[in-house]
Amino acid sequence: MTARIIDGKALAEELRQGFKARVEALAARGQKPGLAVILVGADPASQVYVRNKVNGCLAIGMHSEQIVYDAAVDPQIVLARIAALNADPAIHGILVQLPLPGHFDEGQVLAAIAAEKDVDGFHAENVGALAQGNPRFIPCTPYGVMKMFEKSGVDLAGKEAVVIGRSNIVGKPMALLLINAGATVTVCNSRTRDLAGHTRRADILVAAVGKAKFVSADMVKPGAVVIDVGINRLQDGPDAGKLCGDVDFAACQEVAGQITPVPGGVGPMTITMLLANTIEAAERKAGI
Ligand code: GUN
Repeated sequence: MTARIIDGKALAEELRQGFKARVEALAARGQKPGLAVILVGADPASQVYVRNKVNGCLAIGMHSEQIVYDAAVDPQIVLARIAALNADPAIHGILVQLPLPGHFDEGQVLAAIAAEKDVDGFHAENVGALAQGNPRFIPCTPYGVMKMFEKSGVDLAGKEAVVIGRSNIVGKPMALLLINAGATVTVCNSRTRDLAGHTRRADILVAAVGKAKFVSADMVKPGAVVIDVGINRLQDGPDAGKLCGDVDFAACQEVAGQITPVPGGVGPMTITMLLANTIEAAERKAGI
């Protein structure tokens, strides 16, 4: 059996086309959705992500500003800028690209963002709302995965779901969303004892572990839905320099029922859901 491929690129494009009318309607009311993206330092991968976020906004008629600081910046300067953005009526969403340099207190920075502008959904208030099953902003990557389930007709209620990865950005919010959808959820990590014993029971397998080709075909239950959140750059071998997910795609494709590719799977959905959250923030402010 060869798995059906869940095309994140096509779904992302379809959703973004649909956003344009909402952006226009907001702009006509003087509430053009605006996203501010703060980058501290010059990590090449973060620079690409931030540029794609800003360009994604501009392509659908939104406002976006990129604010870049040297890696050695005093955290107080960034906190003061966040306070100014909290009060800026042209800005509906504020995102601080993670990770931050070591001298930053990440929790302090995330807590400084006004909860109603926290389009990443990382503020403790928004994490709490999600945990209670009443989300205000859903973190973008797991939100994108949920849209992929919806589009692909995957019914989650009663299913065995296994998430590999326990990060605040993906693993934990993904698990909460699956719990809220009625799945039976196990959260594993790269050091879980008998990991394959867990994953082989999964009707839904989400890999967010950050290790290239970590999930092999023998870890996948036949017919499972396999979601690959990983974005790894291969270091050596004939494919050096190429992007690769956390899943051995070629092998797992022969076992899974549905599977996401890398690139062209979850990646394009993440920025799309950031746009969705920013539009939702603007709509809330406009009373729509
Ligand atoms: N770094 C990696 N993924 C993300 C994300 O979704 N949001 C932010 N702010 N930083 C990230």
